[in-house]
Parts: sequence; structure tokens; C-alpha cells
Amino acid sequence: MTLQIKSLEQYQEAYKNSVENPEGFWAEQAETFTWFEKWHTVLHHDFVTPDVRWFEGGKLNITVNCLDRHIATKGDQTAIIWEANEAFEPSKRYTYKQLLAEVNKCANTLKAQGVKKGDRICFYMPMIPEVAIAMLACARIGAIHSVVFAGFSANALADRIKDAECKMVICSDYNRRGPKNIPVKDVVDEAISMGCASVEKVLVYKTTGGKVNWNSNIDIWWHETVDTMSDQCEPEVMDAEDMLFILYTSGSTGKPKGVVHTCGGYMVYTCYSFKNVFQYQDGDIYWCTADVGWITGHSYILYGPLLAGATTMMFEGVPGHPDAGRFWHVCEKHRVNQFYTAPTAIRALMAAGWHEPEKYDLSYLKVIGSVGEPINEEAWHWYDEKVGRGHAPIVDTWWQTETGGILITPLPGITDTKPCFASYPLPGVQPVLLDANGVELEGNNVEGLLCVKFPWPSILRTTYGDHERCRTNYFAAFKNYYFTGDGAKRDEDGRYRIIGRVDDVINVSGHRIGTAEVEDAIDQHSGVVESAVVGYPHDIKGQGIYAYVKPHHEVVDAEHFRREILAVVTKHIGPIAKPDKIQIVTQLPKTRSGKIMRRILRKIAEGQTDQLGDTSTLLNPECVEELKAGALE
Ligand code: PRX
Repeated sequence: MTLQIKSLEQYQEAYKNSVENPEGFWAEQAETFTWFEKWHTVLHHDFVTPDVRWFEGGKLNITVNCLDRHIATKGDQTAIIWEANEAFEPSKRYTYKQLLAEVNKCANTLKAQGVKKGDRICFYMPMIPEVAIAMLACARIGAIHSVVFAGFSANALADRIKDAECKMVICSDYNRRGPKNIPVKDVVDEAISMGCASVEKVLVYKTTGGKVNWNSNIDIWWHETVDTMSDQCEPEVMDAEDMLFILYTSGSTGKPKGVVHTCGGYMVYTCYSFKNVFQYQDGDIYWCTADVGWITGHSYILYGPLLAGATTMMFEGVPGHPDAGRFWHVCEKHRVNQFYTAPTAIRALMAAGWHEPEKYDLSYLKVIGSVGEPINEEAWHWYDEKVGRGHAPIVDTWWQTETGGILITPLPGITDTKPCFASYPLPGVQPVLLDANGVELEGNNVEGLLCVKFPWPSILRTTYGDHERCRTNYFAAFKNYYFTGDGAKRDEDGRYRIIGRVDDVINVSGHRIGTAEVEDAIDQHSGVVESAVVGYPHDIKGQGIYAYVKPHHEVVDAEHFRREILAVVTKHIGPIAKPDKIQIVTQLPKTRSGKIMRRILRKIAEGQTDQLGDTSTLLNPECVEELKAGALE
């Protein structure tokens, strides 16, 4: 079984070992899985090209490790518990045996529709067990899943379908989110009508059974096909470095990029990190509240827990529905042992009911986690006191879509916790802080740019269809380092504290949004000359979106204009990217070379108008007073 660290000494030893002999360390972990054929080379890496390969020559199928290999010992154990949107609806359970059968049926459906190894399949699904079943079905036959969060707009979905040239889309008819019932099949239809020529079939799971438009040339009902298939399906033999999935994420420039993860390394790392970070024991009930549209859902609802033979819970709804006690009610109801959520949810629940968790029995909790954005001190203490209650330490886990798994985190009960600190690297992870010139900052009590100097098994391999973009985004800033885009501090004991993005990425409620993407969307409005978007501190969302918009003509009805801007952003990206504040301006501050001076705009958005620094070098310094005067509270 995967090594589980149990003491500080073991952590220190494992860490030392993983740095001195990374290949030996990870080979030992990899040995614990089922391979059709063993690898011939543990690691090949070059961070310049970049070219990273783990367990080359190894043949495997990740679903054999998620499912088949547990059948003998855990066939009747619950693999997935599903909690519905509505609290009064019964939960559903799938044992490992049942899940394998469902995955095989779905895999046979995909095959029957002509899906082959290497084909890309786009998902636009709610949080229902079928999303897990279908993702695993892809992996079973070697198809590559590309899950798109079902809150993105038709335009955003179409961009992603086209970029990956997906052959099929898997969606539901409707998506229940709290009090809403969103017609998602309509969004898929609209996206496909935008020139997604690669899509041959759309597989639709019926949730609420409302009205949908049906095109019998391409649309297929899940219940009419999957349910009729055989529950036996031979797993495809995959190379360790074959693609497992693509997941789109925002960067500082251009459109979102498709981060690529491969089979072998991702499997080894997600299982290892899951078992250690959550200290999962057989029989525990583990719940991660993320959506599978994000990397957290991939690695720590689906793959990590199933690889470890855990019972993992999926939740269809949202934190505040029907009330602010829902999370705690679900924890009590299922006797959840490990709970993993995002700071934005913690802050929202804290604001909605300071004492709410006290009404529930949370005594089964052993570990509580946080992910996706920096957790502020107040939220950390509230979570610790009201939810952890002295018996469940907080693991503030830092990682990214690109890292595939958690890289920096406390180990519960093993390393100490300190508010707002992600603390120490997991074994196999070698973080460094660099100064702006790329020089490694030695010693403690330093602050710099967070980079990693050695590959771990689940590091991204490329960005889909554009390797050069992968190189320039992550490996070109500092030679021989993977650059994370985050700034961090190292305290006197070597613990890391993540400060936040140092690039033009905003983290809104734990969702990564590129300022360039939002600006592109705003600029689609015919009345807009140009715009500039920055982040600012927001009590609940962590960061809010502040947009400065320059219109062609004087705006007569500012409120109407703002509503139009919100609509255009919703249309091109989705509601999650809607600016919280829109300041209408006649000029944007420009450098003499014509670049927008974002530093000034950030300071104004943050309300620090007295800290603008030297503005005399601007091409148009006179605009500063107007910007300050028009700043929105
Ligand atoms: O800025 C960091 C922040 O989220 C970014 C990664 O976002 P994404 O790829 O969407 O993945 C989120 C889930 C893993 C990082 O560059 N971030 C993530 N976790 C933390 C964090 N910031 C501070 N503390 C964290 N624990």
C-alpha cells in the first residue's frame, strides 16, 4: 500500500529521501499500483524544453487501480456517496462493484458511438455520480476527458470544445444548483451551433426531465444507451505518459489553456498526496465540496480517493441551500471524517451564521482542509474553532491545476499548523523562493517568487496543442525552474505562506480568472474603446473584479451601460467573471510606450489612492485625478 507518514520523524525521513533519491522514492510508491508492464525509466526531465516523463515504458490503466484492484477486498464497500441538491432527497450510494459495472457500461456506450483511444470528450455536467462514471469510462477506454465547469457560458464552452477538437459532449438536460434549475443542454446546443464541427454526438443524462430541444442526428439519451450495455469492458492498455485529461485554466494572457496531465505520474501522486494529507483510514468518510469542473474535483473527489480505496462523497448543491447549516448538516448526517472546502465558502458561511456549526455534531471530523486561495486569519480561526474544535486540524493546501496534486500543506497531527500558512512541502516537492533576477533566496524569513526546482510526478506535461505556451508560461521566466505565478514568504521555521498571484490572474472565490480574458469580453461591447481589469480585496470572494472602462462616447445612463457590460461578460465567459465594480473613465493611465499602468489602477481599486507612487512618467498624468475622483467604494 501507498506509504502513509505517521510521525514527524517519518515525514522528515521521507522528505530527505525524496530529495536525495527522487527516482528511488517514487519508484517505491509506484510499485504499490497495478501495472500491466513495469516502466524502464523512472524519470526523464528537462525543464528547458520542457520535457518531463515519469515511469516511461510503464503500461497501466488508472481505472484498474481506482476500481478493479479494490474489488477483491472492498467490492461491497461504498465508493461514492451522493448527496442531492435538496436536503430532503435520499442520498445515493455506489459500492466499488457497482461503480465498476456502471463505468464499464458507460465505456461500452462510448465505444459503440465510435469513441477511441486518444479522442477528446468534453463534459458539461452537474455534480451527479454520472459525471464520475463517465470520466472513469473515458479513462477506461483511453479517451481524454476535458471537463468544463457548467457555469461557463456557451461561448466559453465552444472555445474549449474547439481547442481540444472534442468528438463528443457529455451533459445533462438540467443542472440543479441551490434554488435554480439551469437548462444546460440549451447551453451545449448553443455552443455547438458556434462552429464546433468536431462534435459528432452529445450524450445527455436526464436529471429533472424538463423540456429540451432534441436533434436525433447527434443527441443520445444516457438511459436509452448506457443502461442497455454490458457491464464488462476490458481496460485499454495505456502508456504511463499517455494523456489522461485536459483541464482548461486561465493565465495572465490570452484565452484559457488546456493543462495536460498523463496517466502514470498523476495516478501515483494523487493517491500518495490524498492518503497523507487527509490521513485517510479504511472506513473513513471523506468529503470534498469542490466541483469536478476544477482540478480539486478531479484529484480529490475522484482519482485520489478512489485510488486509495476510500469512500468519497459528492454533493450536488451549493453551501447556502437551503440554509447556512447545509454543509454541517451533511457532515453530521454522513459522519464525515475529512472535510475539504474553499476559503470563499468558509467566509460566506461565517458571515451567514457565526454560531451555525454549533448546532451540529461534528465530532467525527478528524481533518478539515482549505484550498484554492489564501485563507485570511479571521476565517482560519473561525474554521478552526467552530468546525475543527480542537480535534480536526486545518490543512491549508497549496497547489494548482498545473501541479495536479497538493504540493505544500501541513500534515494533520504530524506537522503543526499556523494560521494562513500552507506550511511545508510534501515529500518529492522542492519549492524555492526567487528574487526578481531569478536568484534563489537562501535561509528563512524571506519573501519572493514561488518556484519549484525539481519535477514531481503530477506536474503538467504540456498545454494542449501548444507546447510553446507551456514553456513560456511556466518554464521561461527562470531557467530550470517551474514558475508558479504566486508570491510567497518563508517564515523563521521554513513554513511557506502563499501571498497570492504576482501575475495578471485574479482569484475570485477560488476561481482563476485572467484579467486579459475579462478585458477581451468587455471590449466586445460596441460602445467600449478599451478597458483594464484588476483585482481588489473582497470580504467574501477573496478578490473582486474591478473594471475601468473607456466608452466611445459620453455615457448618458451609467447604470444601463454597466448592466450591458455585465451581460457581455456573462455571454463571453460566464457569471463568475462579472466585474463587481465598473468605473467609467475617459482615459486609462498609459506609459510612454503605450502600456496600461496597472499598478496605479490596482492601488486605486484597493482604495490606496495615497500610495500611487510616481505618476509623472505617465504619458497622461492628468488622468490620475479623474481616476481617483471616480473611484468606487
Ligand atoms: O494563487 C494560488 C491559489 O490558486 C492558484 C491555483 O488555482 P487553480 O489552478 O484554479 O487551482 C486551485 C485549486 C488547487 C494558485 O496559483 N491557491 C490555491 N491554493 C491556495 C492558493 N493560495 C493560497 N493558499 C492556498 N492554499
